[in-house]
Amino acid sequence: APAAVISPSILSADFANLAPEAKKCIQAGAQWLHVDVMDGHYVHNLTIGPPVVKSLKAAVGTSAVLDCHLMVTEPTEWVDDFAKAGADIFTFQLDAVAPSCLTSETVIPEELEKAKALMKAIKGAGMKAGVCLRPKAAAACVAPLVEAGLVDLILVLTVEPGFGGQAFMPEMVPKIEALRKAYPDMDIEVDGGIKDSTVGAAAKAGANVVVAGSYVFGASDLKAAVSTLQAALDA
Ligand code: DX5
Ligand code: ZN
Repeated sequence: APAAVISPSILSADFANLAPEAKKCIQAGAQWLHVDVMDGHYVHNLTIGPPVVKSLKAAVGTSAVLDCHLMVTEPTEWVDDFAKAGADIFTFQLDAVAPSCLTSETVIPEELEKAKALMKAIKGAGMKAGVCLRPKAAAACVAPLVEAGLVDLILVLTVEPGFGGQAFMPEMVPKIEALRKAYPDMDIEVDGGIKDSTVGAAAKAGANVVVAGSYVFGASDLKAAVSTLQAALDA
């Protein structure tokens, strides 16, 4: 399986102290930083855009991968801006371009073409392409994208998108298991409600990248929290 990675979600950081918060995560052993981008349309929240990504990149340089998770209705419109800002990974909501994934195991052809074009644009702009499945999105829908060689990462949401601090949905564990079984070498990332008591289930199911926001930034000892997550992935 691919390397274990911790990706703290800066959504739960102190935005007035973002650079020191990010550096604390890196010093604690986090290899990636998860950036939750919300546009007020796809979900009812407004968070982070390209200027913040640019400043964050300037602050951390190459010491962390900027793992950008776009919960936006028009991901295609943001590819170039995020690439220019220094995003390393651009993960979009599959249902934003292919809503049929919410009601079917197969994406309809015209939506599939839209997803492929988006992923080609992401890779053409020099970023890695991630595809995110919200809880209602069927895992099988990623197959044609993986077969086309367009997928660098699959992000499995274990909460409904929109906010940090929600409870992990254990009913998503079989989805992670199915994806790991289908794609032994793929980066499979889990996002939502990850903490000491839930990370084991996600890791055991096959996730090799874990996002954690409120658990990491709410901990009295951030370094110990990152180490706990790392140990669960290494177990
Ligand atoms: C949910 C976001 C998550 C969230 C995770 O829409 O994609 O990344 O910030 O936060 P916690 O770890 O607090 O559930
Ligand atoms: Zn996220």
